[in-house]
Amino acid sequence: MSSDRRANLTILINGSPTSVSVAPDRTLLLLLREDLGLVGTKYGCGRGECGACTVHLDGKAVYSCLMLAAECNGRAVTTIESLGGLGEGGSTHPLLSAIVEEDALQCGYCTPGQAMSILALLEARPNPTDEEILETLEGNLCRCGAYPGLVRAARRAAMELRAGGAPAAAMPGPSRSKKG
Ligand code: FES
Ligand code: FES
Repeated sequence: MSSDRRANLTILINGSPTSVSVAPDRTLLLLLREDLGLVGTKYGCGRGECGACTVHLDGKAVYSCLMLAAECNGRAVTTIESLGGLGEGGSTHPLLSAIVEEDALQCGYCTPGQAMSILALLEARPNPTDEEILETLEGNLCRCGAYPGLVRAARRAAMELRAGGAPAAAMPGPSRSKKG
């Protein structure tokens, strides 16, 4: 099949309607990273095995390397950038703060994907058990072994969000199915 037949799409990305023109085989991951410069979403395996590319599509955690951009037309995509930064002057989502405070990362490559998976869980389960957190993290590989810190961070963020910490503006909804 020729990849010359580009499609014009409008996708709600982090709350902003975004018009793009893409080849039929363009993945959501490459659209985000290469066309839109949203490089917080990481390219790991590129085949649905590592979770580094996790974003939310209409509120569900998905592997963006397995999604075609064309499948996202008219839908809402939320990326790690929606959680704010850690620097001065901006608002930082309680989950990002918790990840840092609980020392839940080493190299950090898996962290955006981990955060987006945890966020989907916390939307569905504001007070998750450790088992539920671990089950969620099964879809996100961490070579550095940061899982104990991630569980603590998820617990801490859940507590802070229940106590009234401000969620991200584009915080998506509940369910989670990464294989789309
Ligand atoms: S890059 Fe590994 S699951 Fe998408
Ligand atoms: S912190 Fe290095 S891969 Fe997870």
